Amino acid sequence: MAALQQKEGHQKIHEAALTDLEDMMAILRRALKRDPAAARPIAVEVVDYLDQKINAHAAVEEADLYPVIMAQKKELAPVLQALKRDHQLLAIWLDEARGSLDYHRGVDGHVMARLEAYLLLLARHFQDEESALVRAFSMSEDASRAKGEVANGTT
Ligand SMILES: [Fe+2]
Ligand SMILES: [Fe+2]
Repeated sequence: MAALQQKEGHQKIHEAALTDLEDMMAILRRALKRDPAAARPIAVEVVDYLDQKINAHAAVEEADLYPVIMAQKKELAPVLQALKRDHQLLAIWLDEARGSLDYHRGVDGHVMARLEAYLLLLARHFQDEESALVRAFSMSEDASRAKGEVANGTT
């Protein structure tokens, strides 16, 4: 949990997940062009990865990290709400992708649209979460400016 509170530690987890996901999506897109039926196990692997890694990461954040951010900086409540909505939307898209994969027994446009949208939202979500961490746990810009002004004798 401590790593999640540190911007650098948390950022590393995000970067590793995005790299894995981008690599898997590139393999999936290539496989799909060759043979949609053969692409199915790859899509299942992507969905399983997201379920195990990203959903689990989100659950730990909501249980342990967001309450600490909230206690640290109450002004971030709307940001945390938006981050939780992202988690919900990502979980819904993942369920839909899995549902389509199960139903059609192959990779169709709906599965790909959901996974591509997932990738885009996840990248944005990670950025928003990292800036919330900076705002919660770093000295605020106002505080550092005031400190600098005091040091410079301008206040
Ligand atoms: Fe998150
Ligand atoms: Fe995160």
